[in-house]
Formats: sequence, C-alpha cells, structure tokens
Amino acid sequence: MKILITGAGGNLGRAIIPALTEAGHSLRLFDFRALGETGVETIVGDVRDIDDVRTAVSGVDAIVHAAALHGIHLAKWRPEDFWAINVTGTFNVYEAAREAGIKRVVLCSTMGVYGDSARAPADAWSVVDESNALLPGDVYGMSKKLCEEVSAVYARKWGITTVALRLGMFVPESNIDKYGFRLLFGGVDDRDVAQAVSLSLTHEPDGGFDAFNIMAPLAFETSDAQALHTDPVAVLDQRFPGCNALFAEKGIDARPLIWGRTLWPVSKAMDVLGYKPQFGFDGYIASLQRGTAETYYPPQGLPWWGI
Ligand SMILES: NC(=O)c1ccc[n+]([C@@H]2O[C@H](COP(=O)([O-])OP(=O)(O)OC[C@H]3O[C@@H](n4cnc5c(N)ncnc54)[C@H](O)[C@@H]3O)[C@@H](O)[C@H]2O)c1
Repeated sequence: MKILITGAGGNLGRAIIPALTEAGHSLRLFDFRALGETGVETIVGDVRDIDDVRTAVSGVDAIVHAAALHGIHLAKWRPEDFWAINVTGTFNVYEAAREAGIKRVVLCSTMGVYGDSARAPADAWSVVDESNALLPGDVYGMSKKLCEEVSAVYARKWGITTVALRLGMFVPESNIDKYGFRLLFGGVDDRDVAQAVSLSLTHEPDGGFDAFNIMAPLAFETSDAQALHTDPVAVLDQRFPGCNALFAEKGIDARPLIWGRTLWPVSKAMDVLGYKPQFGFDGYIASLQRGTAETYYPPQGLPWWGI
C-alpha cells in the first residue's frame, strides 16, 4: 500500500516508519515541522490547512492519522490549539480522503477518551475496557472523542473504513524502571503500537468503524483490582514471584513507581484485531534478572513536545 502518515515526525512515526517499510509499504510522511533527510517522500504541511492535506492524500491507499497535540502538550498549548489541530485537523483528513476516494484510515486515539469513567473507585483499582463510557476530563480527551465521532460518520456515510486505536502511554521514558512499571497500568511499548497500526491497516470492522484499547499485555487478573488497592507491592510479588527480592537487590523502590490505579485489559484487541503484545512487565522483570533492563528497551530518539 501507499500510506500517508500525518504527524510522522513524532514518537509514533519513529515506531511505525521502520515497521511499515519492512512490511513492504511505500510511505509518504507529512508533518508541519521539517523532518530532515528521511529517505522517504516527505511533505511539510499543516493538518489545519485543508489544501495542505489535499496535497498530502493525493494518490495514497490509506492514511495513518497521528498528527495531534496530546496530553504532554496540555501545559503549554491553548484549548483552541487542541481544537484546531485535533478536531479540525481530523475533519480535514476525512474530508480530503472522501474527496480523493481513499477508503481506509487508522486513527490515533487515546486512553484519555475515557476520562472520568477510568477513575478508580475508593476501594479498588479501576478496570477499563471498551465498554466503559467515554467521559473525557480535559480538552485533549474531548478532542479525541470528537475525532472518533467524526471518523465513525465518515465510515458509515462514505465508506471510509476506520480503526481507532486508543493508545496507552508510549512517550519515551529515559528512566528504564519507570518505563518497566508503566507497562503495568496503561503504558505500551512503541513496538507493540507499531504492531497494532499494521494490523489495523487490513482489519475489516463490522460497520466500517471500531475502536480498540492498545496497551501492554495485562500483568494482573482483573480480579486483583481490590487487592491492588490495599497492597500493590504484595500483589506484584504474587504475580511475579521473587520480584520484590529482585527490586531490593537492584536498589529499586517499587512503591513510588506504582501510581496507575487502573488496569487496562487488551482482550478486545487480541480477540478481534489479532493484537499480540510482546512487551510487558514480565519481559522487564526477565531482563532485570539477566542483568540490566536497558537491554529490554534501549532508549531511542528524542521526544518531541516542545514547540
Ligand atoms: N505518545 C503517547 O504516549 C500517546 C498516547 C496516546 C495517544 N497518542 C496519540 O498518538 C498520536 C501520535 O503521538 P506521538 O507520541 O507520535 O506525538 P508527537 O507529539 O511525538 O508527534 C506528533 C507529530 O505531529 C506533528 N504535528 C503537530 N501538529 C501538527 C499539525 N498541525 N500539522 C502537521 N503535523 C503536526 C508534530 O510536529 C509531531 O511530529 C497522536 O495522535 C496522539 O494523540 C500518543
């Protein structure tokens, strides 16, 4: 396929460009920042400008729509920027796709669409899957919920098949232990994100639209939710026997690293999309046992969230 990636200069681009190239796809990269020498066809443009988007979509078979502001930008960017880049930008992508007869989009959504419905009850961790209501709690989650609604209409009315991926957190983490623990509660390795995007490019959802939570493999049972509230470190040791002794040996204090309070099963993505996440907390523990967890996730690239 000829695939357009919007927002290709970010974390997601860094993860999926090699994966999609290796799978034999031909890529066109689109970003409002100059991307330098990529070795791939690149267009500089802004999703807020529909003419830029029209140029970008010309002749492609599918679009991976990643350009957006996200959680990390909430501190520095204004709500109207989230609206313009995320909502108007997504409308422009679908409108340009409709005009050009493009029939497939992979929409990068977020775990942030659940907002208040992901909030933990007083006495347990929460368990969030796709049946939870979408109750965004900030302008980012709101904008992505609207993006999903836009895409569902274009799927239903104009046959633009869309898989929306409600991605967990995969911003680069330079502290390897924080990265490892993040896989317990809504983190995901960017190589698993790349796998989910690849699967979405050929998935045929009923009715033309579906949404999936994409996280690391679940490290606990959902029935652990209450015990996790009482003593998460003890539950960790039940599920990963000997891990606390290992943390002590390595000088890792697990308690401040467990702050998520939410379990994110990925059963729907596994059953329906064929997602098989490879990078979970068990792999982090195994790499610690072998020596250093750095081998599990070599930090790569620089994050972008500054401008
Ligand atoms: N990284 C995460 O942890 C995470 C988690 C959940 C969802 N997501 C979603 O995944 C997608 C990709 O995230 P990322 O981590 O790669 O983000 P990123 O911030 O690293 O990259 C986004 C890219 O989009 C580009 N961009 C921003 N505004 C643009 C515009 N107006 N026109 C054209 N390009 C523009 C930026 O230059 C940047 O290269 C986003 O839609 C985000 O909401 C990311």
